[in-house]
Amino acid sequence: MRLDKFISSCTGLTRSQATKVIRQGRVGVNGEPCKQGATQLKADATITLDDEPLALTGPRYLVLHKPAGYVCSSDDPEHPTVMMLLDEPALESLNPVGRLDLDTTGLLLITDDGQWLHRITSPKHHVAKTYRVWLADPIPADAAVQFAEGVLLRGEKDLTLPAELEVIAEREALLTIHEGRYHQVKRMFAAVGNKVVRLHREKIGDFQLPEDLAEGEYRLLTEQEKYQLQTVQK
Ligand code: URA
Repeated sequence: MRLDKFISSCTGLTRSQATKVIRQGRVGVNGEPCKQGATQLKADATITLDDEPLALTGPRYLVLHKPAGYVCSSDDPEHPTVMMLLDEPALESLNPVGRLDLDTTGLLLITDDGQWLHRITSPKHHVAKTYRVWLADPIPADAAVQFAEGVLLRGEKDLTLPAELEVIAEREALLTIHEGRYHQVKRMFAAVGNKVVRLHREKIGDFQLPEDLAEGEYRLLTEQEKYQLQTVQK
């Protein structure tokens, strides 16, 4: 990763403040002063600020706008992974918070805080996830009632938990679910005789995918956003 990015990740300085301390000659790379913020760091580089060694401290919480074509895992033999979109130190300690399908786009959280990850993904907590869904066929008139009552997914014994469907157009809707079964949204629409042609996650609890985050971009969560997700809505 870049030196300026590393300095801001470790110190909490903004990118421009980090650039300033680098230009001031206060940063060392492997014992030598380095004034180029764009310097690419090797994984084993030793970085100092005012002669004090720097290391990452505290857990990290990221929000990524996942593009289609990326797998939510750290390793995949066939497809690029969402981790490849991150320019972060100690990448191996970061994990996606839950999974989105290869072709699903939208809100993906990533963290190295296992407890926080568990709080959001645990089936016990029933955290709400809202998806924008585009469908092959018109949405059946009774779909909202069926989803509110629960539907039986192919190969399963238990009805889905009550879910809220807001119809936006003939073939477009927002669906909020409170569990995370395998391919759940696609299988729920299959259960009412329809087919999902595009799927985009917009929200987890009340936390919305930031509008200024283009596909493939990510940023750190703010303190307020972290708090919002800690007290996530069911
Ligand atoms: N439901 C699905 O079917 N796919 C996703 O990626 C997320 C929820």
